[in-house]
Amino acid sequence: MVQYTDELKEEIRAANDIVDVISQYVTLKRSGRNFFGLCPFHKEKSPSFSVSADRQYFHCFGCNKGGDVFTFISEIERISFKEALEILAERAKIELPVSENAEFNKNQYLKERMYKINAETTMFYHERLYKPLAKIAQDYVKQRKLDNNTLKAFKIGYSGEFNELYKNLKVKGFKDEEILATGLVNKNEKGEYIDRFRKRLMFPIMDVSGRVIAFGGRKLENNEKIAKYINSNENLIYSKKKHLFALNLAKLSDSKKIILVEGYMDAISLYQRGFNNVVASLGTALTEEQGRLLRKYSDQVILSYDSDGAGQEAIMRGLSILENQGCDARVLQMEGAKDPDEYVIKYGSGRFKLLVDNAISLVEFKIKMIKSKYNLENSSDKIRFLKEITKVLSGVENKIEKEIYIDKVSEKYNISKEAIYAEVNKASYNKDKNENLILKNLVSKKQEIELDSTVIKRENMIIYLLINHFRESYEPIVTNISIDDLKLDANKIIFKKILESSAEDSEKILQTVANIEDLEIQSHVSEILVTDYGITSIEKCIEDVINIYNRDRLINRKLEIVKALKNTSNLTEKQKSELGNELNNIINELAKRK
Ligand code: GTP
Ligand code: MN
Repeated sequence: MVQYTDELKEEIRAANDIVDVISQYVTLKRSGRNFFGLCPFHKEKSPSFSVSADRQYFHCFGCNKGGDVFTFISEIERISFKEALEILAERAKIELPVSENAEFNKNQYLKERMYKINAETTMFYHERLYKPLAKIAQDYVKQRKLDNNTLKAFKIGYSGEFNELYKNLKVKGFKDEEILATGLVNKNEKGEYIDRFRKRLMFPIMDVSGRVIAFGGRKLENNEKIAKYINSNENLIYSKKKHLFALNLAKLSDSKKIILVEGYMDAISLYQRGFNNVVASLGTALTEEQGRLLRKYSDQVILSYDSDGAGQEAIMRGLSILENQGCDARVLQMEGAKDPDEYVIKYGSGRFKLLVDNAISLVEFKIKMIKSKYNLENSSDKIRFLKEITKVLSGVENKIEKEIYIDKVSEKYNISKEAIYAEVNKASYNKDKNENLILKNLVSKKQEIELDSTVIKRENMIIYLLINHFRESYEPIVTNISIDDLKLDANKIIFKKILESSAEDSEKILQTVANIEDLEIQSHVSEILVTDYGITSIEKCIEDVINIYNRDRLINRKLEIVKALKNTSNLTEKQKSELGNELNNIINELAKRK
């Protein structure tokens, strides 16, 4: 695979400001020299995720993840460093050298051809929808009340018969292997090429940037024996877990909310009726990757799933995925229709808008689910209901929010507020007790490692000085402190890198360190860079830290000599007197330093 040069890496790094890049995933607030926000890598309620604009580093004090802009993209998108670099190059419109690796190039070329085939196929299907032979599809589209603007916006089409698409693609000059790679055409045992989608209403599936990556095809006949939908199989450019139908349109919406539905037709139907912020999952339960996409393009996700039992279970799963990603997720409650498409046709967009505005939170949804198990007319059921919802309510950390929920529950289910408070307080008390215990354990553990932690902090500061104040600190530090003086492996590795580097200023040193492609080390570096060491004078600080190491060295030597002098039998007179002199000097030196 092609190796990118360090210069190129630096160019890409410089062109992608870390605050800009991270802001696309995390809401950041400035505080002093750094920016803070909720960590995207673990669930948290108060921000411990910090980004340094001047050092171009991020670090989370909660989960300890950290690094530079490449680390961030590679972690958040779960891709390799190299892929992160490629994404950031594209973001900054920096052209990358083409690989010399034939296999890699071949793959890239094949992907490009597949995108072209999909684009060509989209047009082929779409144009075909308007031809006389597509009457069945035109009738169907009318019956589903889709207007022409919608057909154009989604490039909806009608697939051909037997091998019409294949023939068309061949005329356009595509090779068999390229066509087969898209899965749009299959080869049967007889060696014939047959279109995968035949006589179906076609929905092109696009990625965020609007490139067609796959298709969904709906049957038009009322035939129970054939599948209602056929979708493209996963291939080199399509993974149903990683995309959302219509996100390319929803991302253009002014609304900060995204409505998530289950079916293509739900998304399309809502779009036509003025909801331009709708996306559909692609026939699977919501995945983490999709959760991340949703968070990236919205402030709030409104789940609008089918009203059947399966839909309700899918909501529970979807909600927990979105919550874990730190999304504000709501549930739209719909009655009188099986899905959003049916609802909006039956009751109109005004009524649907009301449902969107009244979407309920996770807590309310959980309470509603619990309620459905009990008959509140029955007093023992009511007690069980109260116990169960107490668990949910005591999990709400914000006090005001908790009060609002309690008010609502009290009114809605006719349970006195006092009774709910009594239960919730009992539960919170037990919870606090547990938390205090955990805290106590943590503190005593911490004291055990206290000694080490001052040493580690000191070492970290040395690295901090070397990176941030290279000119002032390099000479004194390397003449007084060696790799073996350092205790932490990460610090040894970083120190070694700095020693080996020919860089001569802080900027270059930081780049050198940033190029250590090891997540643990990057996390360590980022922690160092965003820590405030409370330094007032750089010179004084360097002097102090060097003194500590020199003093330690003297003390160790002193102990060595004392030990040697205890056993004089194997020493010559000359050695004895030399050691005695050295010991005297050390004692004098240590006394001076006090
Ligand atoms: P309509 O009946 O046309 O209104 O469909 P819908 O858009 O309401 O979709 P539905 O709720 O029935 O299904 C949700 C999604 O699941 C669809 O958009 C498809 O992605 C997928 N799906 C539905 N039926 C099938 C099927 O038979 N096979 C496969 N592979 N996927 C399906
Ligand atoms: Mn439907």
